[in-house]
Amino acid sequence: MKKNILVTGGAGFIGSHVVRRFVNRYPDYHIINLDALTYAGNLANLSDLEASDNYTFRKCDITNISEVETLFKEFKIHSVIHLAAESHVDRSITNPIDFVMTNVVGTVVLLNAFKQYGEAVEGRFYHVSTDEVYGTLGDEGKFTESTPYDPNSPYSASKASSDHFVRAYHETYKLPVVISNCSNNYGSHQFPEKLIPLMIHNIKNNKPLPVYGKGENVRDWLWVEDHASAIDVIFHKGRLGETYNIGGNNEWKNLDLVHKLCEIMDRKLGRSEGKSAELITFVTDRAGHDFRYAIDASKLETELGWSPSVAFDQGFEKTIDWYLENEVWLEGVTSGAYQSYYSNHYDHR
Ligand code: NAD
Ligand code: DAU
Repeated sequence: MKKNILVTGGAGFIGSHVVRRFVNRYPDYHIINLDALTYAGNLANLSDLEASDNYTFRKCDITNISEVETLFKEFKIHSVIHLAAESHVDRSITNPIDFVMTNVVGTVVLLNAFKQYGEAVEGRFYHVSTDEVYGTLGDEGKFTESTPYDPNSPYSASKASSDHFVRAYHETYKLPVVISNCSNNYGSHQFPEKLIPLMIHNIKNNKPLPVYGKGENVRDWLWVEDHASAIDVIFHKGRLGETYNIGGNNEWKNLDLVHKLCEIMDRKLGRSEGKSAELITFVTDRAGHDFRYAIDASKLETELGWSPSVAFDQGFEKTIDWYLENEVWLEGVTSGAYQSYYSNHYDHR
């Protein structure tokens, strides 16, 4: 009998990497991908898995209590890996309610369904979260698992709230849970509202590269496949009730990262040196923009033996190549609603 593992948000950026990894590595698992297919969810991200006999897709909104419960009754769910979320900070600033609904209410709906109908004795509820719950750092220091929560954006406040609910279900109902908080991911299939794919798309199309503020904010970038491998390790070996930080030990100032991207793109597109960097445009800063994130992942490294597999130079080149080779994917997700999102967000910055 295969174990039914429910992955939420499996049609999104990180979720699609997690689903692919689990379907291909664990034939004894039946992976059920539950996703509402919002603007960020795309079944084309998983077209290679359609014929796999240990993979099922279900379109479902995690805030819909009766649909979620029906799914839990239909499949005896052994464990949950919960990634479904509204994930973009800028969208949370213009529309916080969607973030409360999906990230907070949706998480509680899933916790409740797992408590009532899941195999809460043997299985586990794995909540995938973000380092943004810890707030912002100055020039020094790193986030550890004991850094106090101090979220600044509606997105991070909603993720912090969902983390608290997960922990509360562990304390109150003894639900077997584990949480991870990860830094910024980069890689294939990321929706081009996020910094790296947005800049790649704009460089290709000779459009301005909108750098917020002075571009001095710092992010710690991790290859998405390494996030998926960390999720695999924590799902199988992480101690229940614990939190694990995941990070790449790879800090970049936004402006330096954009310059590096421009240099690589000039080479790949056969442009003269410095051509793409001419597109850099400084625009109004993000409201409440966190200055710096940096993760101390030593707990995960020493306790569970995880480390990133790929050096940034290598992962970054692979990522850029993927977007250049997958023009149809990129054009598909940047037509339609993306156009109005883009002009509402950037035209008057
Ligand atoms: P994404 O926006 O690319 O994908 C989110 C997925 O969730 C989409 O497939 C979408 O259709 C689905 N979804 C959204 N609302 C839903 C709802 N109400 N019901 C069912 N499905 C719904 O996000 P991502 O970047 O892949 O992030 C996945 C998870 O990882 C999120 O929980 C995010 O907070 C967390 N995370 C992301 C990063 C990052 O750098 N992207 C870093 C750390 C943690
Ligand atoms: O740290 C983990 C988080 O990383 C995840 O929880 C979020 O889901 C994910 O979206 C990401 O959040 P950020 O806000 O850090 O990512 P984003 O790609 O939106 O922005 C990265 C940095 O680049 C940030 O400092 C803002 C800046 N930026 C972003 C965009 C979209 C720009 O300067 N210009 C832009 O157009």
